[in-house]
Amino acid sequence: MVLYFYSMHEQGPIGVFDSGYGGLTVLKEIVNKLPQYDYLYMGDNARAPYGTRSFETVYHYTLEAVQWFFKQGCPLVILACNTASAKALRTIQQNDLPKMNGSRRVLGVIRPTTEIIGNYSQTKNVGVLGTKGTVLSNSYPIEMEKFYPGIRVFQQACPMWVPLIENNEHRSKGADFFVEEYIDALLQQSPKIDTILLACTHYPLLIDKIKQFVPASTQVVSQGEIVANSLKDYLQRHAEMEKSCTKNGKLAFYTTDSIDDFDNQAGVFFGKKVNSMHLDLSAQ
Ligand code: DGL
Repeated sequence: MVLYFYSMHEQGPIGVFDSGYGGLTVLKEIVNKLPQYDYLYMGDNARAPYGTRSFETVYHYTLEAVQWFFKQGCPLVILACNTASAKALRTIQQNDLPKMNGSRRVLGVIRPTTEIIGNYSQTKNVGVLGTKGTVLSNSYPIEMEKFYPGIRVFQQACPMWVPLIENNEHRSKGADFFVEEYIDALLQQSPKIDTILLACTHYPLLIDKIKQFVPASTQVVSQGEIVANSLKDYLQRHAEMEKSCTKNGKLAFYTTDSIDDFDNQAGVFFGKKVNSMHLDLSAQ
């Protein structure tokens, strides 16, 4: 494996990770906001979806990915996957990072989102749509309570949405059934929900359909821009880390599955054509 961006000064691109394509919706917003940096995206498509997998499995897969990003010289890795952020981030930060090169960092998408999402809601009743793994972890209610004490958080797992999106069926009539089903199940939990957070990086692809089944007064929020703003703020507050991030405006994409499939699908998420390279994580 070529150490594509490796530098003697421990400088490198910002790593962005997802189980598959979803993290590209976050990368797109990050690149819009911070185009000067280099980015290395990796989607573990061969092992996606993560949303239905156990804690141990998601942790193990995510740790392998983080180790690969570090080998490529990334000083900072963003887990642009709620499931990985919910199930693996804390253990990696607390147990694994201290044993590795101490200056490298791994950040997730849940904390930056929960810091701000309470401000979107007038009624302080927020709905969260995510994978089964994210919902069962209870990460969103726990974190939101810290930033907005007393806030009411209602969750709904949407296990059919990622397969529909990954198979490019999200615009089909068949998708309507599952969108309506999960939205109804969420809204039945409280008539006061005025904000719905898409807590899975795949779901922005369904946002138009979701809005069809939600009252006009209820806002539907995707987290890409929130995460991008938070990363900008983080780099402003951490000068050493900022210096470690190379700035040539380069992008590289890796997938653990077929590059043809990735390149055909990725543009839908990223908004631009993508040329990926193959990665065999088991050979690392
Ligand atoms: N995109 C991932 C997330 O944000 C989940 C997709 C999956 O189930 O692998 O949670």
